[in-house]
Amino acid sequence: MRTIFDTLTLEQLRTRTSEKWRHYPADVLPLFVAEMDVPQAEPVIRAVHDAMVRGDTGYPNGHGLAEAMAGFAATRWDWAVPVERSRLAADVMVGVVEVVRLLTGPGDAVVISPPVYPPFTTFLQHAGRHIVHAPLGVDRRLDLDALDYAFGRASLHGRRAAYLLCNPHNPTGTLHTADELAAVGALSVKHGVRVVADEIHAPLVPTPDAQFVPTTTVIPDAIALHSASKAFNLAALRAAVAVPGPEATDLEDWPDPVADGVMHLGVMAQTAAYTDGGAFLDEVLAGLHHNGKLLQRLLEPVMVWEPPQSTYFAWLDLRAFGDDPARSLLKDGRLAVNPGATFGVEGAGHVRLNFATSTAILTDAVSRLTTVLGGAGHGHVPGPQRGPGPERGPDVSGARPG
Ligand SMILES: Cc1ncc(COP(=O)(O)O)c(C=O)c1O
Repeated sequence: MRTIFDTLTLEQLRTRTSEKWRHYPADVLPLFVAEMDVPQAEPVIRAVHDAMVRGDTGYPNGHGLAEAMAGFAATRWDWAVPVERSRLAADVMVGVVEVVRLLTGPGDAVVISPPVYPPFTTFLQHAGRHIVHAPLGVDRRLDLDALDYAFGRASLHGRRAAYLLCNPHNPTGTLHTADELAAVGALSVKHGVRVVADEIHAPLVPTPDAQFVPTTTVIPDAIALHSASKAFNLAALRAAVAVPGPEATDLEDWPDPVADGVMHLGVMAQTAAYTDGGAFLDEVLAGLHHNGKLLQRLLEPVMVWEPPQSTYFAWLDLRAFGDDPARSLLKDGRLAVNPGATFGVEGAGHVRLNFATSTAILTDAVSRLTTVLGGAGHGHVPGPQRGPGPERGPDVSGARPG
């Protein structure tokens, strides 16, 4: 089957100048950062082109992006987004930091669930927040006991605290269920910890039997961050929408400098994506569904792996193949993936591989991987089986995890 990911050749992709295609030398196959190997959606191309032709390159105005996102949310998730109470930010991580600043003070704690998107740690530390870990369980789902303990520590002596939830979870693709979110909500009430949900990957659920549950529909005082940038490959045209739950009034204090940092071109591109990009997104989802199955088959000779519930990341447990498989894959296979340890110590011995790419590239990538691991390995890997590996594996790349 040919999918949207088979539209562009490797040669065409190598003309791109973004992080994915320029961080490593040209003999390295880059399956690391969260960029997709797809052509851009026609409605987005038209919106950006028309804006440039109009010279429409001033400052953003109005609720257009929030309205477009609300329309998308109503159609895809039957979720009524409160447009008037939502706020814009330059991108999701800027939005996350600003929401955390509204909910907590300097030196207060924010709980995260590693292995998780590495900028959760770096951005929060940069914002002067103390990080408390509540790692995912071995089943790659939220560990409610760990959260209970972490929330207790974070809110000790009545301090303000927040939980930065990743829903869906990067890198595992875990979709949190309504029951899990309700349990998190109960813990947040018990400890007075506010929930901030990064929902940037929410549109990327390629399997019909899996369902994204918007956090604020279950936890009424949570605040969620959304963007079209992952699902529509728009990291170059960033924008984000902060959506408050029905009981969250905090965004009334959204600071002007944050609202002023929003890029008009990003707003227009993302508005077009949310409004008219449905057919493109459906092609992406069909392609991801196909790629997940393809990758599963390709990996069979070396390991048992199942496609994730969401996102385009394969979180591969390669602990049986040495402590730093990403380094071996880069050095010996010229294949760039994200080292698992950069997502937290729990990720040591794992790698994150981005499968939003063509059949040809994926096939080449797995051939490189099996060749390298065939030399390093202990055979077939049925699942987690060895100890957690080293405290921290070196980041072989210094590259963005995306
Ligand atoms: C979970 C998560 N949050 C945020 C981002 C980055 O979003 P932005 O570029 O809008 O800050 C990414 C990028 O891959 C991500 O995976």
